Amino acid sequence: MSTKKLAPVILAAGKGTRMVSEMPKVLHPLADKPMLTYALDLAEQITDEPPVVVLGFEAEKVQKVLDDRVRVVIQSQQLGTGHALNQASEILMGQSELILVWAADMPLLSVELLEKIVDCQRNNNGPMSIVTAQSDNHRGFGKIVRSDEQKVQAIVEQVDATEDQLSITEINVGVYCFASDWLWKQLNVLKPSASGEYYLTDLVECSYNQSKTIGVITVTDNNEIIGINNRVHLAEAENSIRRQTNNYWMEKGVTLQDPENTYISPDVKLGKDTIVLPNTHLTGNTKVGDRCVIGPNTTISDTIIGDDCKVKYSVIEMSVLENEVDVGPFGHLRAGSHLSRGVHIGNFGEVKNSHLGRDVKMGHFSYIGDATVGERTNIGAGSITCNFGMDKQKHRTVIGDDVFIGSDTMLVAPLKIGSRAKTGAGSVVTKDVPKDSLAVGVPARVIVNSIKKGKDGEQ
Ligand code: UD1
Ligand code: CA
Repeated sequence: MSTKKLAPVILAAGKGTRMVSEMPKVLHPLADKPMLTYALDLAEQITDEPPVVVLGFEAEKVQKVLDDRVRVVIQSQQLGTGHALNQASEILMGQSELILVWAADMPLLSVELLEKIVDCQRNNNGPMSIVTAQSDNHRGFGKIVRSDEQKVQAIVEQVDATEDQLSITEINVGVYCFASDWLWKQLNVLKPSASGEYYLTDLVECSYNQSKTIGVITVTDNNEIIGINNRVHLAEAENSIRRQTNNYWMEKGVTLQDPENTYISPDVKLGKDTIVLPNTHLTGNTKVGDRCVIGPNTTISDTIIGDDCKVKYSVIEMSVLENEVDVGPFGHLRAGSHLSRGVHIGNFGEVKNSHLGRDVKMGHFSYIGDATVGERTNIGAGSITCNFGMDKQKHRTVIGDDVFIGSDTMLVAPLKIGSRAKTGAGSVVTKDVPKDSLAVGVPARVIVNSIKKGKDGEQ
């Protein structure tokens, strides 16, 4: 087999008018990542040759999601897919023998399919290969017109199709592989369509008219060809990815009680015998260990969770939970929370940028921020680290081992509480407390006879 050099080209210059959005279509998030990153990942898997991405609408914004390897060409006016591809000729002409082209709004295409069409074109004497599928759902796909001898003769866009052509069920997936010399020559002489756009798809008719063979690959899994032209399509793609991801984790030994309502982003990792309950969102680089129970109604992002943890009705961001930690209901762990083995955060606990030692218990309505808490310390209900000083700076609180923070203690930072110290209920602690000491106050002041007597003379 020949090893002609292959260059991938991704079309992504369109505004995506049908999205009705200020944001370029390819930046819309799909399963947590901008749509364009799916095409970039595919390109990376298919060849070492960096892709050429055609940008136009809001190019500077789109460029931010590209790494340095990617080569960008700008299509300053969106004059159609043929015109878009032609912008890549300045970089690729004479550089690569084969040009593989697809649109960034087809994020579910598989590497296997791209490999197949490249192989097909490598073995084709003609100048191009296309991918088709069977679908009676129009969705803006071009229709494949075949000649009497069943040869692919033309692709007709839905908007330009006759009544008869609209009933054709063979559609153009929008993935092409071209012999590059032929391609660049033909693109330069491409005629505009009735709407004034230069259609890439018209190259099929050019090739047919030159009696050249068009390679055809057929897709059987229509999930792969969910193209995104509007937000209904976006939701369909999201659904399809979710189903795939959830099936994958169930096969790996994770129980999802209700997979239709469990949202696991592609980069998340889950351990065996973990149970994920409904309406749980696991996003970013979250990793959950074995035998955990997560959810219901929980959102966890960019967090590492050990084995045997329980998290219910809670929100956790950028934190670390060691083994046997339990959180919730209604806990909120904000960025930088580190909960050591056996920590318990009960209802309405909030932790931020703090390290909690082993077996710390914080049962109810407390806030710990910018603090270090020693092992086995108990944080009583309603206690708070007052970390934001009147100087508008954040200050740290350091609490030792086996400390008992009484209910409703206000710990005014910067502050140190020594090991085995205790604070009384309602105390406002503004000065360091040495180890093995008790801190109490501020007691309520009683102001005698300050309340007026009622009619019957009683107080
Ligand atoms: C296109 C095909 C259609 C195919 C479908 C598959 C054409 C004329 N039609 O239609 O046959 O069934 O894809 O998904 O090619 N783009 C540019 N510059 C432009 C116009 C478009 O870069 O001037 C990019 C868009 O950003 C998009 C891609 O090309 O990523 C496809 O454009 P879109 O308008 O979505 O084409 P479809 O109507 O889907
Ligand atoms: Ca499209």
